[in-house]
Amino acid sequence: MVNPPSLDRRRFVKRVAWGVGAAVAARSMLAEGTGARADSSSPAASFRPDAEFGLKATRAQAQILPGDPTSVWSIQGQVIHGDRGMLEGSLNAALGPTFRAQVGQNLRIVLDNDLPQETILHWHGLRVPETADGHPRFAVPPGGRYVYDFEVKGPPGTYWYHAHTHRRTGEQVYRGLAGLFVIEDSSEASARLPAGVFDVALAIQDRLFDANNQLAYLASPMDRMRGFLGDRILVNGSAGFGMRVAARPYRLRILNGSNSRIYRLAWSDGSPLTVIGTDGGLLEAPVRKAYVVLGPAERVDLWANFGGRSVGAEVNLVSLPFDGMTPTGPMGSGGLPQGAALTIAKVKVDRLSADRSRLPEKLSGPEHYRFADATNASAPRRIVPTMGHMAFGLNGRVFEMNGVGADERVKLGALEAWEFDNTAVAGSAGGMGMMGMAPMPHPFHIHGGQFQVVRREGVAHAGYVDGGWKDTVLVMPGEKAVVLMRFLDYAGMFLYHCHNLEHEDGGMMRNLLVVA
Ligand code: C2O
Ligand code: CU
Ligand code: CU
Repeated sequence: MVNPPSLDRRRFVKRVAWGVGAAVAARSMLAEGTGARADSSSPAASFRPDAEFGLKATRAQAQILPGDPTSVWSIQGQVIHGDRGMLEGSLNAALGPTFRAQVGQNLRIVLDNDLPQETILHWHGLRVPETADGHPRFAVPPGGRYVYDFEVKGPPGTYWYHAHTHRRTGEQVYRGLAGLFVIEDSSEASARLPAGVFDVALAIQDRLFDANNQLAYLASPMDRMRGFLGDRILVNGSAGFGMRVAARPYRLRILNGSNSRIYRLAWSDGSPLTVIGTDGGLLEAPVRKAYVVLGPAERVDLWANFGGRSVGAEVNLVSLPFDGMTPTGPMGSGGLPQGAALTIAKVKVDRLSADRSRLPEKLSGPEHYRFADATNASAPRRIVPTMGHMAFGLNGRVFEMNGVGADERVKLGALEAWEFDNTAVAGSAGGMGMMGMAPMPHPFHIHGGQFQVVRREGVAHAGYVDGGWKDTVLVMPGEKAVVLMRFLDYAGMFLYHCHNLEHEDGGMMRNLLVVA
């Protein structure tokens, strides 16, 4: 097992590593490539970036397991101009750097593709113009460049970014093309939550390694159908992740960055989780949960108070066993089944603290959408996962790069009700027929902002946190979820899809046209 250094030291080291030398190198890289900018988006002349970053998607070696390093695809980042604290290196090359940006900042992010296949990055959960959204039609070839210009909009919270390449999202995210994106603002600062080294972002991902420590991906048709499931948990790109903490409160921002694995997060000693936020930022007030069910792409923000514990005390963040409602069988590649019990992170208290900060009673004042205000309240859009002819789909249609149905248009500014229905698949078609499919969980995601979950049906557990802003909603077999979303700021072609990345790559994704 890898023995990671204490969290505080690690962060210090990374800050130093993103020093002046890196910034200079990035500047010259940008100057060289300026002429190539026409091969992608052309930033509006009026856009004035407050900060500019260079990202390079490239092959790298990461020390994940003892012994041989693992070949990964890595995002290397540099601050070209702006506050260097806005980009923080991750533990190793298996995860991209973490952005920390303020609401209202204009960012320019220049992506260079140094990989042997096309790629494009998407800013998950952020509200950005269509040209900055990372739709697969914008993928750049090896050697190509893409320039993203966008203003950071609220709500402040824990977001992420990842590859969104046609039919290759699963593989590219799996190999390392993902990272965290934290958005902050002054309203959130007024909640006076743990900050600095006490505000820790954790990206959870499962991986499968071969005998030479190399990443194994989709060994069988079964894996493609149910989604990739690994047998090892990485946190921030590191296996056997541990944290040394002070006896005081921490803010833990947790991302499920896995391709298809769902976690039932809990503390190993049975103490409740104190949830303060979800995908799109802080809840109105903290919520206590025995466990939290987190599907792929979902985030949860925890207040983790180690203040009552003595020096030397240990507690683990775990995933409790559950019925994953996912096919298992002899054709699987060796990953642990969906719902297997897992240790995510080992936490050890290694020092006392004088900090006595208390959990705020009120965290934010979000607006509440009302179902009756939806433009389609009488007939919500109904989205059903389907499978036929070896391709996944939504309502029977597979992804088409430029295709948008007449029923896949949304008016800019409209409040819409969407119903994600995972109840209708098992019975009639006998599991895997033309239009039906084996019952499986589906984490549904809509691009272009945040929604509110206003109704659930068929839920048999207590692990969902639906009180705040969401951009991804997990719907287990037999469940239905209704969400309300207002499409704000940007017209253009966006996406909605299942965030099981193998389902997405298999066609369970469609374009969504927001029309002004
Ligand atoms: Cu997280 Cu369309 O993606
Ligand atoms: Cu997204
Ligand atoms: Cu799915």
